[in-house]
Amino acid sequence: MFLLVALAAVASAQIIHYAPIDNEFSELDQVFNTSRGTNGGIYNSSFVPDSSYGQYDFCNMPHVRKDIYPQVDQSEYKLQFVEVIHRHHKRTPYAQNCFPVETLVLYCDEALNNYYSEFKTPAHSGNTTKLSWANYQNQYNPFNFIHNGYNGTCQFPQISYAGLEDSYQHGLDLYGVYGELMSFLPASYDPKLVTFRVTNNVITSQVASAVVKAMYPHEEEIDVKVEADGFDAIEPSYSCGFADDIASEITSSTVWQEHLARAADLYDELDDISGVDPESEDWHVSFDHYFDNTAFRLCHGYGLACNSENSSLCMTQVQAEQIFRLGDFEYNYKYRIHENSTLYAATSYGAYFNELKHRLLEKTTGATSLKYSHNVAHDGSIARILGFLQIDYLRWPGMGSEVVLELYQGLKDGEWYLRALYMGRILTTTGPLGEIDMIPLHDFISYIESMIGKDAEVLVDYCV
Ligand SMILES: *[C@@H]1O[C@H](CO)[C@@H](O)[C@H](O)[C@H]1NC(C)=O
Ligand SMILES: *[C@@H]1O[C@H](CO)[C@@H](O)[C@H](O)[C@H]1NC(C)=O
Ligand SMILES: *[C@@H]1O[C@H](CO)[C@@H](O)[C@H](O)[C@H]1NC(C)=O
Ligand SMILES: *[C@@H]1O[C@H](CO)[C@@H](O)[C@H](O)[C@H]1NC(C)=O
Ligand SMILES: *[C@@H]1O[C@H](CO)[C@@H](O)[C@H](O)[C@H]1NC(C)=O
Ligand SMILES: *[C@@H]1O[C@H](CO)[C@@H](O)[C@H](O)[C@H]1NC(C)=O
Repeated sequence: MFLLVALAAVASAQIIHYAPIDNEFSELDQVFNTSRGTNGGIYNSSFVPDSSYGQYDFCNMPHVRKDIYPQVDQSEYKLQFVEVIHRHHKRTPYAQNCFPVETLVLYCDEALNNYYSEFKTPAHSGNTTKLSWANYQNQYNPFNFIHNGYNGTCQFPQISYAGLEDSYQHGLDLYGVYGELMSFLPASYDPKLVTFRVTNNVITSQVASAVVKAMYPHEEEIDVKVEADGFDAIEPSYSCGFADDIASEITSSTVWQEHLARAADLYDELDDISGVDPESEDWHVSFDHYFDNTAFRLCHGYGLACNSENSSLCMTQVQAEQIFRLGDFEYNYKYRIHENSTLYAATSYGAYFNELKHRLLEKTTGATSLKYSHNVAHDGSIARILGFLQIDYLRWPGMGSEVVLELYQGLKDGEWYLRALYMGRILTTTGPLGEIDMIPLHDFISYIESMIGKDAEVLVDYCV
């Protein structure tokens, strides 16, 4: 009996890939076309003038903000629920993205990260001390300068001071829209109405601390949700061997291999500058590491990297722009262009969509009082969501990049409608959902079920 049900579910799952629109990352000739520069993107500042807000800025992606927020007619629709998920803000590079020897000396002493426990039982409360991490540089540790190339006191990664400022502004802007403009958020924090969630990666908590304070300045402390590592749905960290296999198929494809082959000279030049071992596989299977390292420098106002022993051997702007076009190409290819990219997104991020579906449905039945669910996650989270929904045009989701789902109820018909925003604007897909702009909630739910099954049983079937 159970077996039959499971088989029927698999048979009804239909993960259909719809190609994205043709763009400057669809053709390798255009990816390697140096006159395309940054394709209109910003990679060297978190600041975008108001007149061009909404433009792609890798350092600080556009998010919902009062001045560009497309308002729904409130005499016809009532906002009932908002789900926000965004990437953390700008940070130091991951340790594996640092060059063997970096010429910058980096100090991260202007911000403190806290990590400590508290008894929650009244008898013991106050019996622990707040602890802050004082990044300690140990001159007698012979590995200190070998494992992360920077001299200084930063963790790799940690949210930078400027990244914390961007996080705070992000919170102000969200409150500006959902608190002030829409009068939707409660004026004071109430965990039955508002929840925040982070991943197991500490940088998302660092960001949340600034976002929450900007939204609820009177709160001294709040609890943020976090799932156990190993099956965290929003990181994502649940294991799905099938999804891993699809990812390897994508990166072994002819097109992927061709972009690496065409970048062979660039790789040689970059390895000379950085001192990265040309045999190091990690650095040469994608542009992820060079991208992260270079974007970190530019986003924080540092110059392009120079060789640690020869200060006149430096990365050029042309090389940096080529790295950025290649990074955008890789995201576009892995999450949208490749015909199995949708299958990849569905299997590697289906768990989040299953819970999202239930949150939305619980709202329609009145089973929950929750109004606002806010998640701080990663570029891989945002890319998978956009891949799952089949966005029309994808670039690497930069720092702070945000997807918002808004659930409305029609005041006349009592029906439920859904709207999705990305980069502060209506999200357009090439899939069956088209423009996700006040579509019947039912269509959204059916789409999720078509990808993962009625209750994620198709997902489980794929992964386990
Ligand atoms: C390279 O890009 C430029 C600027 O977008 C464009 O005008 C030109 O046609 C492209 N070159 C080729 C060979 O496609
Ligand atoms: C950022 O780079 C652009 C060229 O891509 C340049 O015109 C601009 O002055 C730079 N801005 C900063 C803040 O360095
Ligand atoms: C907590 O601290 C108080 C004050 O020092 C002490 O009396 C009490 O025994 C402590 N409780 C525990 C469980 O250690
Ligand atoms: C690290 O930077 C400090 C301060 O600039 C300097 O005194 C020290 O010699 C540097 N150490 C190394 C290993 O580069
Ligand atoms: C340093 O780099 C410059 C620029 O590539 C090069 O001309 C010069 O020969 C290099 N110096 C040494 C000592 O390798
Ligand atoms: C897509 O995935 C399926 C299932 O693993 C596989 O059979 C097929 O070859 C893949 N298609 C491509 C183009 O890689």
